[in-house]
This record gives sequence, C-alpha cells and structure tokens, in this order.
Amino acid sequence: MAKAANAVLDQADGLRRMKPPSPVRVIAVTSGKGGVGKTNVSVNLAVAMAGNGKQVMLLDGDLGLANIDVMLGLQPSFNLAHVLEGKCRLEDTLMIGPNGVMIVPASSGKRHMAELSQAEHAGLVRAFSELSRPLDVLIIDTAAGIADSVITFSQASQEIIVVVTGDPTSLTDAYALIKVLNRDHGINRVQVLANMVRDASEAQSVYESLRRVAERFLDITLSFVGGIPHDEWLKRAVRRQRSVVEAYPNCAASEAFRQLARKADGWGMPVGARGNLEFFVERLVNAPVSPLPAALLNTGPVLARAVL
Ligand SMILES: Nc1ncnc2c1ncn2[C@@H]1O[C@H](COP(=O)(O)OP(=O)(O)OP(=O)(O)O)[C@@H](O)[C@H]1O
Ligand SMILES: [Mg+2]
Repeated sequence: MAKAANAVLDQADGLRRMKPPSPVRVIAVTSGKGGVGKTNVSVNLAVAMAGNGKQVMLLDGDLGLANIDVMLGLQPSFNLAHVLEGKCRLEDTLMIGPNGVMIVPASSGKRHMAELSQAEHAGLVRAFSELSRPLDVLIIDTAAGIADSVITFSQASQEIIVVVTGDPTSLTDAYALIKVLNRDHGINRVQVLANMVRDASEAQSVYESLRRVAERFLDITLSFVGGIPHDEWLKRAVRRQRSVVEAYPNCAASEAFRQLARKADGWGMPVGARGNLEFFVERLVNAPVSPLPAALLNTGPVLARAVL
C-alpha cells in the first residue's frame, strides 16, 4: 500500500518537474529625461518584488554607463560584453543583491544592441536560453531618452514603466519618448510612474498632464502606476550604496516601492508569453534599429502648452 502511494507521489513529482516554467515577466524602466530616478526605481522595484518571494533578475541596460553596480556598491568582474565575446557564461556575470536579486552588470563599450554581430546575437540568445535558474521577473534599467538601446529594450519588454517628475522638461521629454515608442514602434501601452512627488495628488496631476496630451495626439493608453515621494531616506540610501527598500524599509519611499511591486505582480501576462527568456531575447535582437527621431519635432511646445 505504502509502496503504491509512494509511486503515485513519485509520479506527481515527476509531472511537476515536467511542467513548463511559468512565463517570465519582463519590465523595462525608462524615461525621457535623465536623472529622474530610473535606476532607483529599477533597483527598489526588484528588491521589493524579490521580497515578495519572486525570483528577480535586474539587467543594467544602460550600455554606456554602469549604474546599478555603483548604486549597490558592487564590483563585477564580468559583464554582458564578456558573455558576448564568449569569455564567460551569463551565470558568471550574476551578482547577488538585496533579497537575492540577480544582477547582470552593464556591458560597457557597446552603444546599442544593433551594433552586435550575427555571432554575438546568437551568443546572446544562447546565453539567456542556457540560464538554468528559475526566474519570475526580469527588470531592465535603461538609459534615458530615445537612444536605440532604450527603444530596443522597451520593444522587447511586456511592460514599460516611464518614470517622470513634475519638472516640465521631464514631462516634455517623456511625451517625446512615448511618441516615438508609439508612432514609430507600435507600442500602445505604457505605465507612468511619478517620482519625487510631494504627495499622491501631485503624482496624479503629473500623470494627468501627460495623459491628456498623449491620448489626444497618440493612439496609446497610459496607465497610472503610482507615485514615489521625494524622500531624504532614499538619498541617504544612495549615498550608502544600498537600496532604500532594504536599508530603510519604514520610510515613505520604501512603502511606495512595495505598493508598486504589488501592482506589478498583478499585471496580467500577455497572450502567448512563453516560459523562458528566449522570446525576450529574440525580440531584442530582431528589433529594427529605430529611425531618426523625426517624430520628435514639435513635441515640446505641444506639451509645454498643455502643462503650463
Ligand atoms: N524619490 C526620490 N526621493 C529623493 N531623491 C530621489 C528620488 N528618486 C531619485 N532621487 C535622486 O535622484 C538621483 C538620480 O536618481 P537615479 O540615478 O535613479 O536616476 P536615473 O534616471 O537612473 O539617472 P540616469 O538617467 O543618469 O541613469 C538619485 O541619486 C537621488 O539623489
Ligand atoms: Mg540610471
């Protein structure tokens, strides 16, 4: 009897192991203007999601400047460039951050993915496909603006968080980025996060300014994903090269990041998402190089009028 029961259990265990892994959620964090808080949002969202028991990978997608390793005081020996050159595996680049977040350091030297050779493309796809660790979420911290790498990472992701502040130039540049993503690259869904705001009502009004203009002139749905308050504890955490969620969990910014993580957890998976990262890498390397930002012309005054 016990033998039969064990056999059933063994079979169930075997079936569980055969079950394909659940799809990986890929989130790009981007902005029109630099310095609005993308890296802090990426790092703290990753740490907060990992705190909820998710397996999270954080990819430093700012191919020009290494950001995340500096912010977390890490000293990587390898980065994505070494993987592409075949000098190491993706696993070897991983650094472990707070709550077990796996960090892939930036590959300096390559300005954008379009510069990769065919062999490097193949190497990148292989590197991600060979990653044996289970993964629930991949968060990509991109550079600012409409650089090719930003467009490419955004196109390859299922969700795009555009970080914006109340500063009019941040709003204008966010609109310009959203316009390029929408008109030239067919993206019609963006999540807006208001950073460094005084309170919830400022966050909402920052979002409304952007939504009014975007929905009037573009074929896009903007969603308000919340606000992160301006918080001196966050600055202190940056100075200590720590994530604020881990260093000062009780401050207002940390609470807001945990709220953001809960929201991101609730986002539905797109139809057709597969259980590994291959789809993401395929989209990454197959994305066409973005055309010159002709669509940017005249965006500034339109938004400036709407905001002011
Ligand atoms: N919620 C916040 N409260 C207080 N200060 C903040 C907040 N968010 C960001 N900052 C400040 O802004 C600085 C820039 O943030 P961060 O490096 O995350 O921006 P970024 O958009 O990634 O910049 P870059 O475009 O250069 O990559 C931080 O070092 C911190 O001092
Ligand atoms: Mg940054």
